[in-house]
Amino acid sequence: MAEFTKLEDIVSLCKRRGFIFQSSEIYGGLASCYDYGPLGAELKRNVRNAWWKSTVQMRDDVVGLDCSIFMHPLVWKASGHIDKFADLIVECKKCNTRSRVDHLVDNAEEHTEHVPVETAETDANNLGNKICPGCNKIGNFTEPMPFRLMFETQMGANIDDSMKIFLRPETAQGIFVNFRNVLDSTRVKIPFGIAQIGKSFRNEVTTKAFIFRTREFEQAELEFFCAPGEDEKWYEHWKEFRFNWYVNLGIKKKNLRLRDHDSDELAHYAKGCVDVEYKFPFGSGDWQELEGIANRTDFDLRQHQRGMRTLNSWYENKGDLSKIELKEESPDYKKGPLSYFNEETKERFVPYVIEPSAGIDRSTLAFLVDAYDEDEINGQKRNLLRFHPSLAPIKAAVLPLVRKDGMPEIATKLYDDLKGSFACFYDQKGAIGRRYRRQDEAGTPFCITIDGQTKEDETVTVRHRDSLEQERISLSSVKGYLFEKLGV
Ligand code: GLY
Repeated sequence: MAEFTKLEDIVSLCKRRGFIFQSSEIYGGLASCYDYGPLGAELKRNVRNAWWKSTVQMRDDVVGLDCSIFMHPLVWKASGHIDKFADLIVECKKCNTRSRVDHLVDNAEEHTEHVPVETAETDANNLGNKICPGCNKIGNFTEPMPFRLMFETQMGANIDDSMKIFLRPETAQGIFVNFRNVLDSTRVKIPFGIAQIGKSFRNEVTTKAFIFRTREFEQAELEFFCAPGEDEKWYEHWKEFRFNWYVNLGIKKKNLRLRDHDSDELAHYAKGCVDVEYKFPFGSGDWQELEGIANRTDFDLRQHQRGMRTLNSWYENKGDLSKIELKEESPDYKKGPLSYFNEETKERFVPYVIEPSAGIDRSTLAFLVDAYDEDEINGQKRNLLRFHPSLAPIKAAVLPLVRKDGMPEIATKLYDDLKGSFACFYDQKGAIGRRYRRQDEAGTPFCITIDGQTKEDETVTVRHRDSLEQERISLSSVKGYLFEKLGV
């Protein structure tokens, strides 16, 4: 099994084969922004689809949602993001580089170029021995200050009535504020979940490790609503379910673990949280978070009930959030507008929420590095991506052995027949060995080759990416064969 030692190896593979490019590269790039190329767009779409299939399509207790990125500004006051969603940062007095306090590395610690993410635990009162990542000066920082992570923008063209709004820092709030709508428009009954995939934005102080931490990123989030007292049971359920999702899609178990948050790591809304972590084999080889599974209790729905009570004050203050305090909770909050009535027990309560929140970009990176391998065929090095078939950007390549003797005609007809069902690729250029290797590097699980024998007995060769095994099957059975092998 090949091990990447440098992030550059991954970046180079991604660029060379069209998985991931730097955003705005022809203009010198834009820091921390990336674009998915032809193979990357397919891979990421497959990751999203695999999540949706297992979380929504295959379950009877989860429904989907697709909310707007812009939301009413009071949402973020109620959710706590206006007041609490900030990183503690310091500025270097020499070079003005701003750093997250918890990312600063100690002078005595090894300071590698590729420290990808949180590797240091620093307490804000103990900065004397910390190194500035900008200029390497030690212990020369301003007092720690909070830095709000939400991006702000204006909605509307008129200066007088334009409104400050925020780009959502998590998709979850779209789900909470639609809780009532979903209850009223479907037949869901607690316990049930609402799932959503979409872009979120955080003005991170430090962005590192390629697509691992970017300011614009995609989340796949599930808010699973249950009765108070049932939350621990569902927390355990989702921990196991989500861990197995990665394993079932081919991530090696030795590279995955669940890690409980310490109490000082918990987000402002969480009673408990566990991370699904992946051991990225670059940089310091640290375990890094792919997903957090949190017990958000009844915090968010109760906060939005307070937010709804604050709406008048928001109008009175012309939407100036700095002048607004959230109204106190009603003593009767358990019967509030975002409560749930259990028809069987005749009880009304504000549901508890278990939230598995996965990073689609991070998972895509993990699937890429975990699938990467090198081996040798006939003394020649081969690079390959051993993607699970459901994640492979291209499922099958159709290749005429040579560009004559009627082979391209048969191959084109087969390709036209397959492409309505699977992402396929047709390639008739160059030596067959080289074409196979290009597909190996793209992670294509099957190559279908049309050769001299095809005309005689209507069979084709199927070449398997991982085992290199070749078998002959009939031309007419290729589609059924792929349906069976790909499990689609
Ligand atoms: N919704 C959890 C998170 O964005 O981290």
